[in-house]
Amino acid sequence: MKEMSFVMLKPDAVLRRLSGKVISRFEERGLKIAAAKMMIITRDLAEKHYAEHSQKPFFKDLVDYITSGPVLAMVIEGEECISLIRRMVGATNPKEADLGTIRGDYAIDTGRNIIHASDSAKSAEREIALFFNDSELCSYPLPDEELVYEEP
Ligand code: RTP
Ligand code: MG
Repeated sequence: MKEMSFVMLKPDAVLRRLSGKVISRFEERGLKIAAAKMMIITRDLAEKHYAEHSQKPFFKDLVDYITSGPVLAMVIEGEECISLIRRMVGATNPKEADLGTIRGDYAIDTGRNIIHASDSAKSAEREIALFFNDSELCSYPLPDEELVYEEP
């Protein structure tokens, strides 16, 4: 089933100039970028995005971090891509993230773990609506999408 996920390169990814490397991983995997924009997000938007963590002790640090510089907000599309992207991103604590995952290869601190990705279809829908208007989502076919294999 085709899904859309909200993916955000956090400020340290942008400032460390890792954006291209991370985007390449999604492209090389066969996923499609449906929307992308560089933005410095307000505290209000950061607090809404991470509302589920509002009572956690790390909430203020998390909002400080995510508003500390530019983020690259994206909508990525593909077959069952929500769980796929979470697996590509790796564990929240990069020290526990498998090598070969984005966090496992590029990060070391939980508080600087370089990327966000939606954790469910419900979160994806909510997060995409927070960051993008419908008119900003680009619908276009990729060449390989024409090739649909039919069971004989
Ligand atoms: P994200 O939402 O950013 O994709 O990360 P996640 O699902 O892997 O982890 P989540 O539990 O949703 O936590 C959101 C972000 O909060 C920071 N965090 N700090 N100090 C801590 O114990 C702690 N726990 C979480 C991380 O930046 C995490 O990505
Ligand atoms: Mg999360």
